[in-house]
Amino acid sequence: MSRFAGRTVLVTGAAGDIGQELAVMVAREGAEVAVFDRLPELLDETVARCREVNGGRGVLALGVDQTRREAVDEGVSAVAERFGRIDGLFANAGYGKFAPFLEQPQREWERHVAVNLTGTFNICQAVAQSMVAARAGGAIVVNTSSGARQHTDLLSAYCTTKAGLRMLATGMASELGSHRIRVNCVMPGVIETGMTAPMLQGPDGAAHRGFLLSDTPVGRLGEAGDVAALVAFLLSGDAAFITGASVPVDGGQTILGHPRWFRTDHRDAHGSEWLAGGWR
Ligand SMILES: NC(=O)c1ccc[n+]([C@@H]2O[C@H](COP(=O)([O-])OP(=O)(O)OC[C@H]3O[C@@H](n4cnc5c(N)ncnc54)[C@H](O)[C@@H]3O)[C@@H](O)[C@H]2O)c1
Repeated sequence: MSRFAGRTVLVTGAAGDIGQELAVMVAREGAEVAVFDRLPELLDETVARCREVNGGRGVLALGVDQTRREAVDEGVSAVAERFGRIDGLFANAGYGKFAPFLEQPQREWERHVAVNLTGTFNICQAVAQSMVAARAGGAIVVNTSSGARQHTDLLSAYCTTKAGLRMLATGMASELGSHRIRVNCVMPGVIETGMTAPMLQGPDGAAHRGFLLSDTPVGRLGEAGDVAALVAFLLSGDAAFITGASVPVDGGQTILGHPRWFRTDHRDAHGSEWLAGGWR
């Protein structure tokens, strides 16, 4: 297949597993690829993998911290200058750290907002402005999470920002349609990547894996390629009539609710002392 022949696709968070997989997939299918991550040296492996499959087409790797608007604008201009225009964006970079709500440090809350919400806004707006200027339309896919629509304990900051991104994608789909720019979001469940490795490969990894699998109808956890395949479809002309959609890619993990990766035990709600104090 060469769904991306003659197209330029920009991928953020491209040093991570999901971003890297999408970059390689579209490079294999004909795209010139721009890959962004916090630091340029993180991108060496992604660039090498793209070059193995892209038949000598262009690959541009830039260190861009998406919380810094100036850096984002400079990066997007550099891509447009190098390749002529940007046809597709996978806004994938993200940040997540576990913390109980009561102990959530404010600086961690602010980090989630800065990277996930403000950073994704920065890259989406800069690329959309570039697409509008080029007058050739385009497609944007935002990576949110199954946490964009259902809460997971210990991830209130992450889920809140991902839910916000889902609404941002919906708003962009509405406002950018007249410029022939489609915008969709994907909502992955638990995917085996660097981000989930501490949970799945840590001391309690086997227990977490078993617990998650009991809630996963397809019988396995996700792989980066599962998400990349959906994103490539949504970025391609095959999805020409799809915009404003939020698509789960979670092996059915959310059919019956949401896997509770970590649990608050509600059986002892309020505690006996609190109840004795008269709250009914
Ligand atoms: N792995 C999962 O189970 C899962 C599930 C749902 C959603 N997601 C989302 O998928 C996306 C990719 O995650 P992944 O699993 O590949 O994890 P990952 O941690 O490997 O990738 C995230 C990438 O974002 C980059 N990044 C972080 N802060 C940045 C910043 N300020 N500027 C630029 N880049 C920055 C990181 O350097 C990293 O390369 C994230 O948005 C994540 O929230 C992952």
